[in-house]
Amino acid sequence: MNHQEDYESGEDCDVQYYEDYENVDVHKLMLKDKPRMNFYHGILSDPTVVKDKIVVDVGSGSGILACWAALHGAAHVFSIENSSTALWQKSVFEENGVASKVTIINDSVENICARGCAWFADNYKFIAPLGGISLIVSEWMGFYLLHEGMLFSVLRARDFFRELNATLTSHPPRIEMVPSKASIVIAPMHMAAFKEAYLQEHWGSFHGVRLSTVGQVDFAKYDESAFFIEVLPEAAVLGTGTTFCEFDLATMCAESAHLVRHEINMDLSSSAAFQYLTRTAPGVAVDGFTIWFDVHFRNYRLSTSPFEEATHWKQFTMLLPADIREQEMVYVTKEEPSLNAVLHFGVLMPRTSELTRWTWTVGQ
Ligand SMILES: C[S@@+](CC[C@H](N)C(=O)[O-])C[C@H]1O[C@@H](n2cnc3c(N)ncnc32)[C@H](O)[C@@H]1O
Repeated sequence: MNHQEDYESGEDCDVQYYEDYENVDVHKLMLKDKPRMNFYHGILSDPTVVKDKIVVDVGSGSGILACWAALHGAAHVFSIENSSTALWQKSVFEENGVASKVTIINDSVENICARGCAWFADNYKFIAPLGGISLIVSEWMGFYLLHEGMLFSVLRARDFFRELNATLTSHPPRIEMVPSKASIVIAPMHMAAFKEAYLQEHWGSFHGVRLSTVGQVDFAKYDESAFFIEVLPEAAVLGTGTTFCEFDLATMCAESAHLVRHEINMDLSSSAAFQYLTRTAPGVAVDGFTIWFDVHFRNYRLSTSPFEEATHWKQFTMLLPADIREQEMVYVTKEEPSLNAVLHFGVLMPRTSELTRWTWTVGQ
């Protein structure tokens, strides 16, 4: 059984991408995301991470991460932001008393790299006596980790600053990446449990009146789609999550995120939802796959799992085609509570020719 999902974008995708970040609501959403903020604040307020280092914030947006690094002892921070949100940053850094420690570069990573290391070293002569760049922080993650396509810019920045460091000193500092590790996790899902929770939450009671008939009409937007981005209730997730792929930001090359193909075995036996649903039935029909990601740095961890506090990334769910779901063709039994799937995943960059593709083959 095969499925393929393509999202192709037009020529002006890059322009549109940066324009989206000029909307203050997008930043408000990210700044209100507690798990996200706690993860980055925990790291950047840790003196063993930032103290006396030159830090680069790749894609600094409102300037929040650059601010935290500067406030917690960084020797200097480069705040790189291509969109016009960089124009807010001068007053943000002044307001927080760190303006003298932060250099704002309102340009893209790609343009900065194109100018070359010699240009950078010449423009920012204070770097050499401070020993080079030793920390790159970035919040680059998109839906199912890679959708936004920003990881490629972060890797490009990493390689550029490594090259810069090597031109400055014979013993260049190692550049630590924040986050340093990232993984994509996947679990089978069951639509009926999602539907029940959705109808209950949104259409369950209006001063004692249930409107589940109207709710059915509303829910069709999920039932009829190939994929959707929502927080799934635990009851709909038929596994604790199997790691599909892992990236080490220090060593990976951009190509390794372009095409990933793995055969994975998902064991459902330890899932509370699977156990609950098979109390009275011989098995459960799988309606699709739910994908989320985790990122790490040392002991710090940010998870977008359906089993943890919700984030603005929610979870990404790909549905099996309607006929397969209707006929319950992917059915996992109590006796054999595991499912094999071959998943292929590819992202082509640059963003102007972005093509994100998930394909999968399921067999039991
Ligand atoms: C997810 S936001 C994070 C903003 C901020 N660091 C935060 O944590 O709130 C990513 C930001 O990176 C910027 N960005 C993405 N790709 C970039 C690139 N190649 N060069 C410069 N800025 C980039 C976007 O414009 C956006 O403001």
